[in-house]
Amino acid sequence: MTVDLARRFSYGEQEFATSPLYQRLSGIVAADDRLLAIAAHCRAGQQPTNLVFAAVHYLLLGADDAPGLAGWYPSLGGTRTPDDPALTGEFTDFCLAYREELTALVARRLVQTNVVKRSAALRVGLAAIDEPGPVTLLEVGASGGIHLAFDAYRCRIGDTDLGPADSPVVITTEWRSTRPVPTRIPLVGDRLGVDLNPIDLADETERRWLRALVWPENLPQYGLLTAATAVVADRRPRIVAGDAVTVLPTLDAVLPTDRPLVVWHAATRAHVPAERRAAFDAAVQALGRRRPLYTVSLETPEDAADWHARHGLCYALELRASGAPARRIAAVDGHANWIEPL
Ligand SMILES: C[S@@+](CC[C@H](N)C(=O)[O-])C[C@H]1O[C@@H](n2cnc3c(N)ncnc32)[C@H](O)[C@@H]1O
Repeated sequence: MTVDLARRFSYGEQEFATSPLYQRLSGIVAADDRLLAIAAHCRAGQQPTNLVFAAVHYLLLGADDAPGLAGWYPSLGGTRTPDDPALTGEFTDFCLAYREELTALVARRLVQTNVVKRSAALRVGLAAIDEPGPVTLLEVGASGGIHLAFDAYRCRIGDTDLGPADSPVVITTEWRSTRPVPTRIPLVGDRLGVDLNPIDLADETERRWLRALVWPENLPQYGLLTAATAVVADRRPRIVAGDAVTVLPTLDAVLPTDRPLVVWHAATRAHVPAERRAAFDAAVQALGRRRPLYTVSLETPEDAADWHARHGLCYALELRASGAPARRIAAVDGHANWIEPL
């Protein structure tokens, strides 16, 4: 187990391509059995790397007197660089001093990073649906429900400006193509979410966990998350708690049958334990028996090795229309900093 975990942390260089701090911390954890023992408490299907680093970040964000380790976290105003040799000692001492708290967080919490910019990918996916609407939008793995308010955000994809011009949330995403950005999307009516653990954005502790999941150098995401949180906390979208595999069949009975349903899931399937993924897919597709169904997904595809060899470490944006095979629409950066239509 510890050997597998050590291997997992040793991939930090690739996994945290835009976080030099987490790249360095990955190496520190990989080499220390005491730190790997904390990571070993994470639940099946969860990413131990993100969980451990978010748990540490969560404690730092909640500390009254910022401990020395905070000096390495740009999210806390830190300016020390990850190549500073003192980092190993500071990080290890902090983790061992707070071993109990960290173990409890790793055992209980989930990787629920709600990336506001992925709303841009949802727009591009919706634009591939040939329906005027209204459609019902159901997000599986909704976390705090940030994407359920996607059309309340101003969204600049390349040079194309979408959404309300006066929105306090402004998303910018690079469009890696000379093709025009598709802008026409179906009218979205009712919307709801499903999540193993819906995050209540009105609760400060929950908001802190969402902030803790953001990589410390990604200061723009903190600004976006804060602005989007305020918008969504006002709207209070309905998010049903539970495993999609068991919740979706119960929703099937209550979702409208007289209008198409769009199921959206982003960075969610990877968190479903591998042996449950077929059941997850089947539960989503079964919603198409009683109404037209479109599935828009932003996930690591099944042919991951080929995909990554061709496009680098990024997600595939796919659309699947009622029973038809999935159509690949775009390659999308993990944090939706760029979209490359295929
Ligand atoms: C990494 S987060 C992504 C959140 C959001 N989709 C986004 O892209 O910003 C994955 C979310 O999926 C949820 N999740 C994982 N497995 C699930 C399942 N079987 N059923 C419902 N939700 C699940 C987690 O609780 C978490 O909130």
